[in-house]
Amino acid sequence: MSNLLVTGGAGFIGANFVSYWRRLRPSDRIVILDALTYAGNFESVASLCDDDVCRFVRGDICDAAAVATLFKKYDFDLVVNFAAESHVDRSIYASQVFTRTNVQGTHTLLDAALAAWRPSFQRRRFHHISTDEVFGSLGPHDPPFTETSRYDPKSPYAASKAASDFLVRAYSHTHGLPVVITNCSNNYGPYQFPEKLIPLMIMNALAGEQLPIYGDGGNVRDWLFVEDHCAAIGLVLQHGRLGETYNIGGGQEMANIDLVRLLCDEIDRRFATDRNLAVRFPACPAAKGNSTRALMRFVKDRPGHDRRYAICADKLAHELGFCAQTPLAKGLSLTVDWYVNNEDWWRSIVSGAYREWIALQYGAAN
Ligand code: NAD
Ligand code: DAU
Repeated sequence: MSNLLVTGGAGFIGANFVSYWRRLRPSDRIVILDALTYAGNFESVASLCDDDVCRFVRGDICDAAAVATLFKKYDFDLVVNFAAESHVDRSIYASQVFTRTNVQGTHTLLDAALAAWRPSFQRRRFHHISTDEVFGSLGPHDPPFTETSRYDPKSPYAASKAASDFLVRAYSHTHGLPVVITNCSNNYGPYQFPEKLIPLMIMNALAGEQLPIYGDGGNVRDWLFVEDHCAAIGLVLQHGRLGETYNIGGGQEMANIDLVRLLCDEIDRRFATDRNLAVRFPACPAAKGNSTRALMRFVKDRPGHDRRYAICADKLAHELGFCAQTPLAKGLSLTVDWYVNNEDWWRSIVSGAYREWIALQYGAAN
């Protein structure tokens, strides 16, 4: 039995991971530490925190005293650090909070782990969740990123993640802290905050609002279903070699415009087979038998928009036998189902502060 700290566990990937880990190792004790920023939602984990096995603590990873108290109280064997500011567009408007949480917050956790775990690191492990964006942008014919690709972050978000990765590596090299890092590609699936491409498109489509596509829509991302990502993290957390980095990808590259078309067609199919949807979402073009693609609009590009990301996940496949299992079409279908069936979850988000962000990002400038 292990004691596990999951930071950022009320966010998109963290919440999916807690659910996954509870199924995988039901007797492990889990503490979720999350500040519940605009992107964190207690409702995403409420049903998982209804017993002594899993506890929710609202707190900030930059708060050294609070973090040290948690380490003392729970004697963690394992830490998985998901907590972060994660949206590239927001880092273009205001990036100081990205440095604070992603760099200073990770640094604070590393210090707490070091202080609590020294002198013996046996059974301990600090798993840091990073991103493929630290490697920069690929041209159309470049080979995918490997674990040894040069760091070349292009957005303030990516730079803050790169800095946190370097700190994690430095604590391993200097202090012998038992760390492992995973760098993954674009996740999608249940519980993703609706500022990100896929949930934004689904919710706008259902509301009959425009589907904003940055630039020419030719930017390419490698899409990874969140359940597959959680399974890969689970493997690396248990069996990955200490001090190593592992890439995790979906092996499914697609240009944004093609992805949005797929989503529109998926929504059209739902409305064609479920007449109730036209009653629930009358503003969606599919409610009147029209194509949801009619809502697609090209808008002003993201400044410094990385053209292409692609991941080579061979190391993970060779060492730990892992390959992502969910084909993109199936993952998108599951994701559309989840958002259609969990309207309460996203309705509670798309008010107040979220509306202000949408007005700032997609308002007059476009
Ligand atoms: P998210 O924005 O959905 O969730 C982040 C969570 O961190 C939220 O619950 C938020 O409340 C919490 N948080 C923020 N600041 C905090 C602080 N100071 N203290 C404690 N908690 C804080 O993000 P996500 O998409 O779930 O991403 C999780 C991790 O995975 C991040 O580190 C991100 O960089 C990385 N990542 C995400 C993707 C992706 O496609 N979503 C891809 C690669 C890597
Ligand atoms: O690659 C991993 C990264 O993936 C993670 O590190 C980040 O935390 C995560 O947010 C994600 O970053 P992206 O910038 O790739 O994701 P986003 O969903 O914001 O955008 C995906 C693509 O879609 C990107 O090329 C920008 C484009 N886009 C996005 C939005 C929100 C649009 O065309 N229109 C939009 O409205």
